[in-house]
Amino acid sequence: MSATVNGIRLEFAQGERLVDLINRSNIQLSQVCYHPQLGPIETCDTCLVEADGKLVRACATQAADDMRVETNSPQAAAAQREAFDRILSNHLLYCTVCDNSNGNCTVHNTTKLLAIEHQEIPYKTKPYEVDMSNPFYRYDPQQCILCGRCVEACQNLEVNETLTINWEDPHPRVLWDGGVPINESSCVSCGHCVTVCPCNALMEKSMLGEAGYFTALPEQALQGMIDIVKDVEPEIGYSGIMQLSEAEAEMRESRIKRTKTVCTYCGVGCSFDIWTRDRHILKVEPAHGAANGVSTCIKGKFGWDYVNSPDRLTKPLIREDDGFREASWDEALDLVARRFSEIKTQHGPDALAFISSSKCTNEESYLMQKLSRAIIGTNNMDNCSRYCQAPATTGLFRTVGYGGDSGSISDIEQAALVIIIGSNTAESHPVLATRIKRSHKLRGQKLIVSDLRENEMAHRADLYLHARPGTDLIWLSAVTKYILDHGLAKQEFIDKWVKSAEEYRKSLEPFTLAMASERTGLPVETLEKVAGMVVEADSVCICWAMGVTQHVMGSDTSTAISNLLLATGNYMRPGTGAYPLRGHNNVQGASDHGAMPNFFPGYQKVDDPEIRAKFEKAWGVALPPKPGLDNHMMIDAIHDGRLKSMYMFGEEISLVDSNANYVAAALEKLDFFVMQEIFFSQTCRYADVILPASPSLEKEGTFTSTERRIQRLYRVMEPLGESRPDWEIIVDVANRLGAHWTYKHPSEIYEEIATVTPLMAGVTYERLEGYKTLQWPVAPDGSDQPLLYTKQFKSADGKATFYPVPWTEPSDQPDTEYDLHLNNGRLLEHFHEGNMTYRTEGIREKTPCTFVELSPELASERGIDSGALVELDSRYGKVTVQAVVTSRVRGKELYMPMNSVEEPVNRLTSSYTDKATHTPAYKETAVRMTVLKPDGANPLPRTNWRFGTPTPQKGVEVERKWARSDYREPGQNLVQIKSAAPTAAGEER
Ligand code: SF4
Ligand code: SF4
Ligand code: SF4
Ligand code: FES
Repeated sequence: MSATVNGIRLEFAQGERLVDLINRSNIQLSQVCYHPQLGPIETCDTCLVEADGKLVRACATQAADDMRVETNSPQAAAAQREAFDRILSNHLLYCTVCDNSNGNCTVHNTTKLLAIEHQEIPYKTKPYEVDMSNPFYRYDPQQCILCGRCVEACQNLEVNETLTINWEDPHPRVLWDGGVPINESSCVSCGHCVTVCPCNALMEKSMLGEAGYFTALPEQALQGMIDIVKDVEPEIGYSGIMQLSEAEAEMRESRIKRTKTVCTYCGVGCSFDIWTRDRHILKVEPAHGAANGVSTCIKGKFGWDYVNSPDRLTKPLIREDDGFREASWDEALDLVARRFSEIKTQHGPDALAFISSSKCTNEESYLMQKLSRAIIGTNNMDNCSRYCQAPATTGLFRTVGYGGDSGSISDIEQAALVIIIGSNTAESHPVLATRIKRSHKLRGQKLIVSDLRENEMAHRADLYLHARPGTDLIWLSAVTKYILDHGLAKQEFIDKWVKSAEEYRKSLEPFTLAMASERTGLPVETLEKVAGMVVEADSVCICWAMGVTQHVMGSDTSTAISNLLLATGNYMRPGTGAYPLRGHNNVQGASDHGAMPNFFPGYQKVDDPEIRAKFEKAWGVALPPKPGLDNHMMIDAIHDGRLKSMYMFGEEISLVDSNANYVAAALEKLDFFVMQEIFFSQTCRYADVILPASPSLEKEGTFTSTERRIQRLYRVMEPLGESRPDWEIIVDVANRLGAHWTYKHPSEIYEEIATVTPLMAGVTYERLEGYKTLQWPVAPDGSDQPLLYTKQFKSADGKATFYPVPWTEPSDQPDTEYDLHLNNGRLLEHFHEGNMTYRTEGIREKTPCTFVELSPELASERGIDSGALVELDSRYGKVTVQAVVTSRVRGKELYMPMNSVEEPVNRLTSSYTDKATHTPAYKETAVRMTVLKPDGANPLPRTNWRFGTPTPQKGVEVERKWARSDYREPGQNLVQIKSAAPTAAGEER
């Protein structure tokens, strides 16, 4: 179709908004409240245009065939100016002394675009103070133009539902939880509101007084300058004033650096620009990330202080007597090389082991496994996917072939039904969770959650399943059997694509609904309802995480998930598939790039002679033929005396491996232990040499997120002190051992990876430049696969396989002595033990320590309340911790987050593991509880978001603004359109 805009014929597809058509055609049009990722919110009226002779909001109107649009007719121009004048009555233009004047301020740029010289409606102050209570951002009601972008982002994009505008008030403003200080509200400090605010009303505190040349002036001087500006405005007009501020803004360009990076916390893979002035982080600005757009969570938006923490390691350390002394790089590296050589000569290569970091880059994992295999000669190589993700990968290998998410986050977003199992997604993968919350709230997506805790997603779900611990496999298999038995399966899909159907059907015989109900505690009707919802949904995605994988039957439950998807035809289409939610930012990439005992990069088997010959040729060495030890086996091997030395980077094994006391005892026994870290971690205490490394902001490379998305990160700042990027250190160690590696930049490492790894054959740094991404497998021509299995499954015959799985009893079960079940997992604001997040003061303020969640029933039985000090002891160790009483947990089930270095939950966990992968059964722990002190202060301060009271509503609710008696439509004949354009809410307005 085509329309005429300002006399130019423009083509468009049905459904395109006028504003998008206009923007795409580079026609200038004011639009203050419109943000493409939020959709039209219609609060500002500055986008009024004449369409077929009527004034309409371009943001809320669909282009129509043969429509005649004028963006600058006298009537449209007058309406736009009138609308913007009203905005300025809420906003003081003091751009020269404003930290938001950086060339991208929407209000500033609109003033210029509309050539505003003077204000018709004078600025009016509002009877409110600036709210500085949140540690990370401030709200200045005096500057708030009431565009509502922040409200829309909070209500309908992040879906935390904290922000509203009191449209009926004589002085509307943005409210948190209906009108409490920000820090006492349910605000999770995700930063969405600050990111989308078009002016300086919401700003990162890290920007204040830091971005401009004159913005650090004392309050009084600043006010003086603002007054001067107001005084001269009638005479010289805004254009004169703006020239000055723009000259100042241009000067800022020379000292403010904007660098694209990828978040270093969870596996969602958010990317953003980091603004810095020298080493000061001004702000994190998300905009174009393939996974996140403008979204972030508290960690990605505000959790970067650790990079400049005064306790960063900046010099190599060597153990001496009972402590460590500083050493030069040469001395430390010489010592590492000498001891590795000695141990290899004396005990053979398999006396050494290597552990790569899931926080570090793909290139670094590749080099570490190459060092292990090609230089030392051992396959004793692993990464922390062993602790969480390996069972999910195994489940997928068994059934569909690739060990990765079968689609993208956008597939989860568009599914008709999402099932989440054993995942606290809103806290562990916050930005991914926003996409589900949004679809559930606005598009009618259905949600089933199975988890021991009634976490946020469970609370929002259409159906919440609280099955007994360790019984997910049973209900999954029973539901699949019910579907098959009742002829509800997608038989055509099975016949065409899935092998072993009969064998599988037979294996399901024990899983009757009656048996499942008895074992899981879920009523038969509930199981039937699950089956009904699955078969009724056009497309189903299942997301799962550590609540599934960290069990003795973790691989089998993951397999059962995939079996259910196969039986119901929920693969090979958009909006379907299996989504193991990867934990660390690069846990997917570490395994993809060969940091595993049995695989070269790209999951090529080390015991396949042909594959090995390929790598021997490429690397010019003979390679060990047998798979090595995984990191669980390594700990046993140290105790047995078989393993003498370890080289590990970016991994807090002494806290994050299960049965921490046993692990610590092993580390103490090592003859020679090299740690490469950014801080003196708990694990560093056992090291003989500590090499100071650089965090992600100080290096280049690539990360691979949960959706198999490979993304580049760029160096934001130089390495601190003498610290160095991990890849450079690994190269130096290898070269001292005779490697002759000549890599000068991570791109050269990736060139090599691509030549030996068919899965990544077409990956190049050029194809990943800036915000460009690739989702593996990547063909030599650079084409990638956002959705796996479009033409076939990954197997020799292209078919998937039903893989029968029996149920295994959980390991460490409660009994009369250890009578409580302990579950554990993440928290929104801390990443794992908190080595990085505790170094952000604001995060520490909000969540200062760990705690254990108890049910109200148990608390009353033991006569305690929140704040009580309790000792938990298991068959393996004990911790002392304060209690939080909450109905998130039930009965005798406890939950302890991982955020503690002092009292880590893994002192309590056992050494039992998943049968197939050796992933520890962290989620199977029985404990008993002794009350040490029945009361005390709640370990969660009142300023924690968990105490807030959200105020859900449909969005900005602009209709309430239009209903105000003082609202007048700008221009002569604005048509209060019933637009057919979809809003962010997916509704028609
Ligand atoms: S927010 Fe924008 S328009 Fe307002 S004073 Fe700052 S730079 Fe100027
Ligand atoms: S605080 Fe919210 S309503 Fe106010 S200007 Fe910023 S985005 Fe708009
Ligand atoms: S922690 Fe995860 S969700 Fe949060 S910003 Fe980083 S990648 Fe995104
Ligand atoms: S851009 Fe604000 S109403 Fe259209």
